[in-house]
Amino acid sequence: MSVVRSVVTGVGGYLPPNIVTNDDLAKFVDTSDAWIVERTGIRQRHQASPDQAVSDLAFEAASRALEAAGRTAAEVDLIIVATTTPDLTFPATATIVQRKLGAPIGIAFDIQAVCSGFVYALSVADGFVARGHAKCALVIGAETMTRLMDWTDRGTCVLFGDGAGAVVLEPRAGEGTTADRGLLGFALRADGTKKDLLYVDGGPSTTGTVGKLRMQGNQVFKHAVINISEAIEAAAKGAGIAIADVDWFIPHQANQRILQGVANRVGLDEAKVISTVALHANTSAASIPLAFAQGVADGRIKPGQLLLLEAMGGGLTWGACVLRL
Ligand code: ACO
Repeated sequence: MSVVRSVVTGVGGYLPPNIVTNDDLAKFVDTSDAWIVERTGIRQRHQASPDQAVSDLAFEAASRALEAAGRTAAEVDLIIVATTTPDLTFPATATIVQRKLGAPIGIAFDIQAVCSGFVYALSVADGFVARGHAKCALVIGAETMTRLMDWTDRGTCVLFGDGAGAVVLEPRAGEGTTADRGLLGFALRADGTKKDLLYVDGGPSTTGTVGKLRMQGNQVFKHAVINISEAIEAAAKGAGIAIADVDWFIPHQANQRILQGVANRVGLDEAKVISTVALHANTSAASIPLAFAQGVADGRIKPGQLLLLEAMGGGLTWGACVLRL
């Protein structure tokens, strides 16, 4: 059966140049490199400079993804930015990126699903691309999470970093089989009853402020492995693939112990895990496309391979996606 698939034709990532090590943090908060590395695997994070907005990070990642796809901004007809840290309350950061790229009038909007934002955004973009409403889509995850930190809270401020990643999605004819290139299956989930485990304590309609990130880390940890594993199994089943056939696992980069726990629970070889958590920390919606870009850039991820993406974040929201590059 002939079908239209949304195919990733280019991937790009951008990290702001300023690197903050665990030792840098230990100068002003009661923590240590040894504690952070042992509990999370994180060794450093990148931090945007004060004059860099999230749209600047997104613009850089998008430009690199377009170049990798052999496309120009003039061809872009859909931009979705997954972000928790927009430039402004409105307009959507996607429209600001559209202007910076010089992309023509098209569709542009943001998605807010915190760390799960990129997986949610991919599934939404798939709806436009596979149904013929977009021919050249940019799906971007971009964050300045360091702007949401309470720098006196050692339980959260050591975990997050800034960055952006992007993919170009284009329609391609497929046979309707798992051998097709493109997005093959999703599972998306949300449980609003778990809001208090991870949230930001401000917003336009409540406090009128941006707020700071609050988290019950050990509770989030408990839900992460179970929730993510269930979504992975559902996405794999929906796509009609066996988890053992996955070439690369590109998880949201929250904590090395969560990555390993999920891989073990779903029976994925740890050698297939793309991990950037040590160098990037948790960049929320940006972490999957950043890890994807890293895996492509260093030659591990190759066209034709089967990829499994997953994330969990505030909401709680979580989800997984299967695609063939
Ligand atoms: N340095 C030193 N000590 C610390 C630090 C720190 N940075 N942070 C917490 N501690 C202390 C606590 O105060 C506590 O001390 P106490 O026993 O004297 O009270 C002790 O360490 C243990 O605290 P826990 O919170 O139970 O530590 P845990 O082993 O759970 O590790 C962590 C904390 C790393 C936050 C872990 O729970 C975690 O990674 N959770 C997942 C959170 C996450 O990744 N959220 C991101 C979004 S959701 C997602 O992406 C999946």
